[in-house]
Amino acid sequence: MIRQPLKFRKTIFVICVLFLIILLFLISRKDTDIINSSKKISEDIPAVVYRDFSSIPKREHVYVDKRKMASNSAIDDNIKQELQETRAQIEQLKKKIAFLEGRIPQKYPDVKYLGYKERKRILVTGGAGFVGSHLVDVLMMQGHEVIVVDNFFTGRKRNVEHWFGHRNFELIHHDIVNPLYVEADEIYHLASPASPPHYMQNPVKTIKTNTLGTINMLGLARRVGAKILIASTSEVYGDPMVHPQPETYWGHVNPIGPRACYDEGKRVAETLAYSYAKQENVSVRVARIFNTYGPRMHVSDGRVVSNFIMQALQNLTITVYGNGKQTRSFCYVSDLVDGLLSLMASSYTLPVNIGNPVEHTIEEFAMIIKNLVPGCRSTVSTGAAVEDDPQRRRPDIAIAEAQLNWSPKVSLQDGLQRTIDYFKEELSRTTFYNNQTYMDVNVKSPQ
Ligand SMILES: NC(=O)c1ccc[n+]([C@@H]2O[C@H](COP(=O)([O-])OP(=O)(O)OC[C@H]3O[C@@H](n4cnc5c(N)ncnc54)[C@H](O)[C@@H]3O)[C@@H](O)[C@H]2O)c1
Repeated sequence: MIRQPLKFRKTIFVICVLFLIILLFLISRKDTDIINSSKKISEDIPAVVYRDFSSIPKREHVYVDKRKMASNSAIDDNIKQELQETRAQIEQLKKKIAFLEGRIPQKYPDVKYLGYKERKRILVTGGAGFVGSHLVDVLMMQGHEVIVVDNFFTGRKRNVEHWFGHRNFELIHHDIVNPLYVEADEIYHLASPASPPHYMQNPVKTIKTNTLGTINMLGLARRVGAKILIASTSEVYGDPMVHPQPETYWGHVNPIGPRACYDEGKRVAETLAYSYAKQENVSVRVARIFNTYGPRMHVSDGRVVSNFIMQALQNLTITVYGNGKQTRSFCYVSDLVDGLLSLMASSYTLPVNIGNPVEHTIEEFAMIIKNLVPGCRSTVSTGAAVEDDPQRRRPDIAIAEAQLNWSPKVSLQDGLQRTIDYFKEELSRTTFYNNQTYMDVNVKSPQ
């Protein structure tokens, strides 16, 4: 074997050591790069925050997707715009319906034609109420021009809607406690709640209507030279000590009782009428109206006829307040209207009773009505008497017979049958919830 010189071997050794150093250096650099690049990657990834979600109620886990939210609000805007457009279209269609309805010639009941001289302009206050609307029907059929003034407290447009649009008919929404300026030849002043629950609901307003309202109507009559008929009531006799009640009886009224707002209000209305007659030469007529019934009376009127019919139609207990021996006499509405027209046409200026003198006990009424409703299963029960409930009411109609040649024509059976048919129809139009009956919302009131 050939031996290398020593110098040569040393050189080889140094080269190897250098090679090793370079190799180690290179390896160490590569490691640093890897570490750095891994560090960079970890900086790019957002830090993960660990939360204990178990402590959060489930519905708080809401994932909010901002892109989705933006697109949702765009959808909302679209829906809102579409809704607005649809509403505008509905409004336009409503206008079109009203326009087209207006073009359909409405059929009115046959109205007589009156010449210029015979035709009167007649104002009916409270003309959308029970009695007023029947009076309006007759006046319209006779061919007069009729102006109805009503605040719709107890009346309703439906009672006169069959005249809407007729050239002889006008409806004014107005409260007669405020002055009214219209032209009229005759005024039937009927505006006032008539049934106890209605007039007791706002006693001050009842007094105002019968005093301030009556002054306004008498003032109007004076200004335009109209004849005026005041609708007074048998209540001016209060709980009467005289039976039957003639017009000369001054009455027995409790001035501070629950019915006083109406009774005393009507007494003042009569006094006002005769004061205007004496002082201002106003031509007045005063009708003392006794209990009247018939179609279009309020179903929650609270008086015997409406209460008993509604109870009988629904097979509820017919409730008689007191012992049932108290009496009432009831006049059918068409008879009353005939009486009012005759009084207005007559020259008799003192008060006149208008009512039906056929008297029945409340107990008898309950049985008559029960028997007129086919298949009625109601029983009759008595309850505690009502404060200031008059014990006897029956008109003495001698003056009406002599001065107006008037007396009632419709029998109780016929009148009640027509009224029952009307109430049946009203009940069928009404929707009740939770098995509620009509009487559930009624109030106990004087009969
Ligand atoms: N129905 C009866 O048995 C009876 C008995 C006696 C007297 N009356 C009298 O006959 C008249 C009519 O009675 P009804 O049974 O038709 O009563 P109703 O309640 O049916 O009618 C009265 C009308 O007057 C209106 N009215 C009330 N206050 C008013 C105001 N301040 N301004 C304008 N309008 C107002 C009501 O909205 C209603 O349309 C009343 O004056 C009443 O006192 C009726």
